[in-house]
Amino acid sequence: HMKGAIFDLDGVIVDTAKYHYLAWRSLAGELGFPFTEQDNERLKGVSRMRSLDILLEIGGLEYSEAEKLAMAEKKNHLYVEYISGLDESELLPGVRAYLNALRARGVAIALGSASKNAEFILEKLNIAGLFDVVIDGNKVARAKPDPEVFQSACRELGLEPQDCVVFEDAEAGVAAGKAAGMQVVGIGKPEVLKAADLVISGLHEL
Ligand code: G6P
Ligand code: MG
Repeated sequence: HMKGAIFDLDGVIVDTAKYHYLAWRSLAGELGFPFTEQDNERLKGVSRMRSLDILLEIGGLEYSEAEKLAMAEKKNHLYVEYISGLDESELLPGVRAYLNALRARGVAIALGSASKNAEFILEKLNIAGLFDVVIDGNKVARAKPDPEVFQSACRELGLEPQDCVVFEDAEAGVAAGKAAGMQVVGIGKPEVLKAADLVISGLHEL
């Protein structure tokens, strides 16, 4: 019986992956190597600094911590420019209807995202008010697949892990939800999200 629903943001609520991709690709371009959409799959659900490490590994380049911090900041600056144009029309199909249906049933709703831009995005999409709890990249130390983000959301909702269901599009996120002892609904392809309890193509299916 689901008492709490915990949603990932990027890829579940909104397709920001394309903006992350454009921003990372621009950085790769400046550094002088190509970065494909297939490469970008590896960055989904992964924290900003870890994403940069993967990107540099793809380019076969190494930099100091200080240089990497500057690059991550540059990428984020560009990303924030892209997402500042976001509006409700970019909510993925079925999102608002499903969140409203859960609220009507008395299910508590949390966000569990690795993004440090989560609050900004929720405001842009005009859905911040639908979440009882928001746990994002500013509030957790350990990135998915560590279960911290979901454990923390569950605790703030005042619930037990077995009462919570996680909605995730990334392999690392599904793993994090399972490690937290929760039921996990995967959003995407069953071959990728093998560890999920159920896989659907989007919230419009529910
Ligand atoms: C989500 C996305 C990742 C992104 C991460 C950090 O998990 O799926 O692609 O790198 O958030 O986002 P941020 O907005 O803090 O750079
Ligand atoms: Mg995601």
